[in-house]
Amino acid sequence: MDLSRRLFLHAGLMTGASLAIPSAFADDAMPAWHIGYATAPAAGFGPSPLRLVSGKPPAGLAGTLYRNGPAHFQHGDAYATHWFDGDGMVQRIAIGDGKAAHTGRYVDTLKRRLEMKAGKFLAPGFGTIGDPSFPVSSSNDVNPGNISVMMSGGELLALWEAGTPYRLDPVTLETRGFKEWRNDLKGMPFLAHPKRDPDGRIWNLALNGRRAGIYNINPDGSIASFGMVDIGAAAYIHDWAMTDRKLIILVQPWIQTRNIPPFIDGFQWKPEEGMKFLIVDKDDLSKTRWAQGPARAFYHTGAAWEDGDGTIRLDAAFYPEPVLGSGGGAQEIRGKLSGYDRPSKLTMAVIPPTGDVKLVETDLAGDFPQVDPRRHGLSRKLTAMVTGSVKDQPGGSALALQDWSTGKRQVYDFGAHYMVEEHLFVPKPGGSSEKDSWLIGPAINTRAGRSEVWAFDAVNIADGPVAVWQADYAWPLGFHGTWA
Ligand SMILES: [Fe+2]
Repeated sequence: MDLSRRLFLHAGLMTGASLAIPSAFADDAMPAWHIGYATAPAAGFGPSPLRLVSGKPPAGLAGTLYRNGPAHFQHGDAYATHWFDGDGMVQRIAIGDGKAAHTGRYVDTLKRRLEMKAGKFLAPGFGTIGDPSFPVSSSNDVNPGNISVMMSGGELLALWEAGTPYRLDPVTLETRGFKEWRNDLKGMPFLAHPKRDPDGRIWNLALNGRRAGIYNINPDGSIASFGMVDIGAAAYIHDWAMTDRKLIILVQPWIQTRNIPPFIDGFQWKPEEGMKFLIVDKDDLSKTRWAQGPARAFYHTGAAWEDGDGTIRLDAAFYPEPVLGSGGGAQEIRGKLSGYDRPSKLTMAVIPPTGDVKLVETDLAGDFPQVDPRRHGLSRKLTAMVTGSVKDQPGGSALALQDWSTGKRQVYDFGAHYMVEEHLFVPKPGGSSEKDSWLIGPAINTRAGRSEVWAFDAVNIADGPVAVWQADYAWPLGFHGTWA
């Protein structure tokens, strides 16, 4: 185990070299949507009450939405060179008794401390070359803790993908250091897309090259086991999928062929390889099988399930080729549009017990697919996803709810002055069907220059939200969240 840990700690991710500083861009020329990519205040936000601006909060809706995303993109007149490399800020939206309140705090990282002190970007990252003066002994030295959050054993964890989670106070969001599940796992990476069985058990991957560590975490937060599988290629893997009995690792043909800074520039798109699906038995990691599918790129899956005959179905937002690689989001951070035009398709991948993977594509473009947590890994009907687009504005503008059992979908269009973020299924108390859920997530109202939190009833999202709360300010667009 020690050997594997050392291999992970010395991931080639973080080689230093000189930092490219972009030219300055005048702030007063920024378009209204830039508020989603603007650097948040160093002191964070709140706690501040959110104002109910629409609807009537449903009785029984009580809990906390935690989210994470990059929130610092500028030092002086220099901008971050990739959206994914901004310092993580965790947002906490507490909802209860019809009221909502927001708190936002930066994750307190070595990267952030050193860069704030120097007043410039120093650390290498996903799409950032970095400065040779930045001390890098392991990937955790540059870990911005900026992709997602999870609750485990009463702890709130801020997640990156090439480093260890940070422990945060669930109320104040104060950073308490790195999470250590076990001595020999100290410093081990933890992907930003852990999966939770309906009984509370969490599974996740630790990736380095063609080796994947497999975390199996008990519902009480203690670790049950950590194993290792060979995924065949050093593919870029941001997310994966799981049934009640199997782990499915989608090895997309975006493969690391060189160890150069920035990290993502060492990856090459090799569509001739297709997408390879590794299926691993949860009870015995040595029991694996492979299935071959056509080439697709992806960041996010919804979830998977297994039919009685062993056929596995999983849905994902598949792109024809990689997006947000080198320079991803760098234009938006400067208030300009990158002009990316490679829409995804919500797709159901069907993996038969033997033979090749078949893709059933919809015409629904978008990303951030989400499912009912009560049905994760089990057969289900619904997938929610951010969709829609507005000319001359980045991001999604609508929320879709796909029903796989009928092939029909509902869509709610927020309007041209909105950037819509991931919406989570929140089970209604006492309910059991997927439609016994609310869909809850933030959106930035670019006309008002404010962030809002929207709640829909999954029975009918096309009718519009059941409640909308608005902040007096906007916090930056985030990536992923969890409901506690
Ligand atoms: Fe993600």
